[in-house]
Order: sequence, then C-alpha cells, then structure tokens
Amino acid sequence: MSYKACLFDLDGVLVDTAIYHFQAWKILGENFNYQLSEEQNEQLKGVSRVESLIRILNWASYTATEEQKEIWLKEKNDNYLQLITHMNPSEILPGVVDFLGQIKADGYKIALGSASKNAEIILEKTHLTPWFDVIIDGNKVSKSKPDPEVFLKGAEGLGLLPSECIVFEDAQAGVDAAIAGGMKVIGIGEASVLGDANKVIPNFVGIKSADLLNF
Ligand code: BG6
Ligand code: MG
Repeated sequence: MSYKACLFDLDGVLVDTAIYHFQAWKILGENFNYQLSEEQNEQLKGVSRVESLIRILNWASYTATEEQKEIWLKEKNDNYLQLITHMNPSEILPGVVDFLGQIKADGYKIALGSASKNAEIILEKTHLTPWFDVIIDGNKVSKSKPDPEVFLKGAEGLGLLPSECIVFEDAQAGVDAAIAGGMKVIGIGEASVLGDANKVIPNFVGIKSADLLNF
C-alpha cells in the first residue's frame, strides 16, 4: 500500500508534553487529596481533558458537582498553560523535524489529529505550524479518542480516503481510534503498551520517508 498522507498525534508524538499534563493533574489532585500515579497517567494519554477529570475523580472515589468539575477543568488548564509558558522548539521530540522534512519533500500531505484544545498554541510555540496542511484538534471534534472522528476529519480535510492515511500515535486510545477509522497506525513508544498498532517504533530517530512503503 502506498500512502498519501501522514496524520500525527501531537502530545507524546511530536512534542514532549506528557510530563506537563501529568504535573498539572497532580497539582489539581491536591484539591481533593489525591496523588496520581505514573501508571494512571499512562491511561490518560490521548484522553480528553474532561474525560481525564472524570477518570481521576473515579480513581479518587470523589463525587463532584458539575459546577465543581468546570472549575477544576479550568484550574487544570491554567496549571498546564503556566507549565508550557516557556515551551520552545527544543521540546520537539528527536527525529521529528527530519522526518517531517523528508515526507514533505516526497509529496506526502501532513495533518494533525490531536485531542488537545491547546494544540495550536503548542504548534506555534514549537514553530511546527507551517508543516501542516490540516489541523484537527480538540476544539474541532465532538467525540474523543478512541472514537475515530479526529482522524476521519483529518483525512476528509485532506480530501483522502482513510486507507490512504497512516497515523502516528503514542496512546492506546489513539491507536484504537486509528484502527476504528480504517487507518494503518504506527505506535510511538513501547510495544507492551501499543500492541494493537501495525508496527511500534521507539521514536522517529533514523526513520526515513521510504520506510512508509514498508509499514
Ligand atoms: C491529549 C493528551 O493529546 O490531549 C492528554 O495526551 C490530554 O493527556 C488531552 O488530556 C487534552 O488536552 P488539553 O490540552 O485539551 O487539555
Ligand atoms: Mg499522544
């Protein structure tokens, strides 16, 4: 199969923001005396902000009113925005810019498919915006991963079929979303976490545009 486009998740694939989300949730958890573990944080990757809060409150066995949840969602995002204030291109993950340059030169279309409502801010801070033909983020979808909406909208925006797109994802929810959308998916990270992906690579270091023909 020869693909016509690459669809990238943002957090954990192009940039190293997972640590900031983790810190922001940990700070929020202090409000209800809950300490989020790294294992739990792994399960929040790719999951929308509101769904993440619901999961954390469940783990904490804490019942919050809708009004309280709204306040905490804002507080978490304020914490997060504070933590990413000084984010810059040095936080782009290794090999990413080289790979983007190669696929662009070879004529592949490039789209973003992220659950984050902060995606455009992060792309600006890291100077990645110009690479993208289409950007679909958490503001443009009504259903979060593992629903395929974010990737299907990406393919549609590019005018391509799902079968012409290949997705790069670091989260189980995102791998499931790509599969549900009928797309090939490359996991970025560990095979023990991303076993359902068609192939798993640790990062983009040494990955060539030509490798797309073998995925
Ligand atoms: C995903 C992250 O990309 O975006 C999640 O993996 C995060 O950790 C989600 O909760 C939503 O992000 P934001 O920026 O809208 O709170
Ligand atoms: Mg991710």
